Amino acid sequence: MANERRPLIAGNWKMHKTIKESVELVDGIIGSLAKQPVEGVDVLVCPAFTALERVSKRLSGTDIALGGQNCSHLREGARTGEISPLMLLDAGCTFVILGHSERRSYFHETNEMIGAKVKLALECGLRPVLCVGEALEQREQGRTFDVLRTQIEGCLTGLAAEQLAKVTVAYEPIWAIGTGRTATPETAQEAHRFIRGLIASLSMAQVANGTRILYGGSVKPENAASLLAQPDIDGALVGGASLKADAFYAIITSAR
Ligand code: 13P
Repeated sequence: MANERRPLIAGNWKMHKTIKESVELVDGIIGSLAKQPVEGVDVLVCPAFTALERVSKRLSGTDIALGGQNCSHLREGARTGEISPLMLLDAGCTFVILGHSERRSYFHETNEMIGAKVKLALECGLRPVLCVGEALEQREQGRTFDVLRTQIEGCLTGLAAEQLAKVTVAYEPIWAIGTGRTATPETAQEAHRFIRGLIASLSMAQVANGTRILYGGSVKPENAASLLAQPDIDGALVGGASLKADAFYAIITSAR
């Protein structure tokens, strides 16, 4: 089967930007892409919840997709402070980031909880971007592959092949997030290839060959091209550099 993985460049804005700033940022990205379109690359932005609806309005008529940064494992109910995947859909999202290492560490999300979110997000019609990645200590102890296996299997086991086909994975080594320390292209490629093998073992090679696996962790215009040139790196999940339209656009162009 032909490999049809179009590169995806996703911006995770985390807890940054007011509504006004979010609109300015997305207008900057739209403007750059209108002036100099980039063919063959999918683009996703994931603003704060408060900015979703306004950003969604700006994105209408463009090819840029909108995503949330988290959602509940429940459709609705008494869960003060949580947000339902249905609410994200209502605000215009088609994607949702799940299991980010910041959610895992600061909010104690387990693989079991994240797996329930992935399942419900899919049932509701959202496409999850499942984040996985090892801590520095785990890498130094030679446990990277064990950690990735536990995370992938813990979050994705039990999904039907057609559900799994809608999941994007983001490999984000924790030691590379916000540190300026990027994984080398070779180190990242090794992890990506391993993750693709895990997905194949959960379903079938055909699904795994179509799964987009993004790299995240200090991706910048200067290092994006060498990472994206790796055979199993299908895009990037960008934090800091996605907060500036010109830097984010430069990363999009390097995925071409
Ligand atoms: P940085 O690009 O700021 O390292 O963040 C990566 C990240 O966590 C994206 O989800």
